[in-house]
Amino acid sequence: MKSIKIIAFLLLIVAGTASAQPRNNTKCPFQFLYHFGDAISDTGNSIRVLPSGPLLPPTRSPYGVTFPGSPTGRWSDGRVDVDYVADAVGLPNIVPYLSMNDSRSYDGIIFSVAGSTTLNASFFESRGISVPPYNIPLDTQLNWFRSYLQSNCTNQTECAKRQPSNSAVLFEFSELNDIGYALVQGKSIQEVTNYVPLLVEAQINAAREVIKLGATRVVYTTAAPLGCYPYILTALTTNDTSAYDGLGCLRAVNNIAVKFNSNLTASFLALKAEFPSVNILPADYYATVRLLITLKTPIIGSRRRNPALRTCCGVGGRYNYDSNRFCGSPNVTACSNPNNSIYWDGLHFTQQVYNRVIGIQVLPALLLLGCRPI
Ligand SMILES: *[C@@H]1O[C@H](CO)[C@@H](O)[C@H](O)[C@H]1NC(C)=O
Ligand SMILES: *[C@@H]1O[C@H](CO)[C@@H](O)[C@H](O)[C@H]1NC(C)=O
Ligand SMILES: *[C@@H]1O[C@H](CO)[C@@H](O)[C@H](O)[C@H]1NC(C)=O
Ligand SMILES: *[C@@H]1O[C@H](CO)[C@@H](O)[C@H](O)[C@H]1NC(C)=O
Ligand SMILES: *[C@@H]1O[C@H](CO)[C@@H](O)[C@H](O)[C@H]1NC(C)=O
Ligand SMILES: *[C@@H]1O[C@H](CO)[C@@H](O)[C@H](O)[C@H]1NC(C)=O
Ligand SMILES: *[C@@H]1O[C@H](CO)[C@@H](O)[C@H](O)[C@H]1NC(C)=O
Ligand SMILES: *[C@@H]1O[C@H](CO)[C@@H](O)[C@H](O)[C@H]1NC(C)=O
Ligand SMILES: *[C@@H]1O[C@H](CO)[C@@H](O)[C@H](O)[C@H]1NC(C)=O
Repeated sequence: MKSIKIIAFLLLIVAGTASAQPRNNTKCPFQFLYHFGDAISDTGNSIRVLPSGPLLPPTRSPYGVTFPGSPTGRWSDGRVDVDYVADAVGLPNIVPYLSMNDSRSYDGIIFSVAGSTTLNASFFESRGISVPPYNIPLDTQLNWFRSYLQSNCTNQTECAKRQPSNSAVLFEFSELNDIGYALVQGKSIQEVTNYVPLLVEAQINAAREVIKLGATRVVYTTAAPLGCYPYILTALTTNDTSAYDGLGCLRAVNNIAVKFNSNLTASFLALKAEFPSVNILPADYYATVRLLITLKTPIIGSRRRNPALRTCCGVGGRYNYDSNRFCGSPNVTACSNPNNSIYWDGLHFTQQVYNRVIGIQVLPALLLLGCRPI
């Protein structure tokens, strides 16, 4: 256990020093990226789903304050996960599906939409759980993928590039929104635990579908520790100190993420057995995010007041988070250096976290996908 932590820590240092700049010194055996997921891999779809999209928080300051200095539609102070992934594999020019322009060449398409769930909206409706109106569930993202593959492609070079067999496909549903929305709306731990196999099944079915459509490289991210998110900690706050772990995260909620991750990992292994020639690789958000929180947790202090779990952009309460005064609202300001925070707005990470997670998790995965420095 100790040695794993040391190795992770060393990788962290490497990631911290080598990051951020586009790396066009990497050569991978694929030329295109497809992304499915939630806000960790949305570079601008959520604000284009509905006509009211331009009113969403990430169209306002201080979103984008770290990079590029103004809002971009990313739910972050700067870049998100996919920006680093795309740079790392030498395919930096990725475009959101809803702002794609086929008269230009690009390296990948993002179907991910912030706030999205893996289960259909009907699942939540029938249980009285509301989801964001711009939610694009995994099944709909998959429909976008199918219609993209069937759309007219007039440039032979570009068409060949987009073949699923010439791509890497990423499933990045690390926010576990299906569970988070249900919990903050009062569903019990017991009830949402029952959703876990359904969530796993939805991702596996989607992955099987893209493999049948020709994909030969699939990367999936595990769920982040949901019990450490400020919006969850705020909604489920309790005076029972035994509900919190050593970092100040809610144990019972994190246990759901752990259970989900072990089922997801086992299920992807089973899928790999179904398709032996397909590369299927995990990127572990859970362990990495916990490590980053641990590194920012003061040695002395109350578990329920861990400053590492405070939102950078927000106001009020123990976690500097209030759903009625969300980041981007009038008079809600950001901390002076978002690089020092884990959480940006209570539901999403800072750029710095994405940078480090990718540094730690993607480097080994890239080697396994056959990417080499040039
Ligand atoms: C790498 O990419 C950057 C930004 O896209 C560009 O400015 C630079 O010239 C490229 N370097 C090489 C060696 O191609
Ligand atoms: C698409 O790109 C072309 C060439 O850069 C540009 O002329 C055109 O206006 C763009 N279309 C849209 C809808 O943005
Ligand atoms: C979502 O709904 C469609 C039909 O509308 C159904 O075919 C599909 O299985 C559902 N997916 C999930 C994950 O529930
Ligand atoms: C594809 O191109 C053909 C011929 O140019 C046209 O008839 C058809 O409507 C196009 N389909 C789409 C989905 O754009
Ligand atoms: C096809 O796209 C490539 C870029 O990938 C571009 O260099 C080429 O000019 C395009 N060909 C046509 C006929 O548009
Ligand atoms: C925690 O205890 C305080 C003081 O006893 C009380 O005011 C508050 O309502 C309690 N909070 C919860 C979530 O039970
Ligand atoms: C995932 O969980 C479901 C329900 O508990 C179980 O039936 C299934 O066997 C699990 N799958 C794996 C691969 O662990
Ligand atoms: C923001 O702060 C200013 C100055 O304190 C105050 O006048 C204004 O009413 C506040 N606006 C909101 C929406 O709270
Ligand atoms: C935060 O880190 C990024 C690099 O990841 C750097 O470009 C930026 O200047 C840093 N911001 C501050 C305020 O230090």
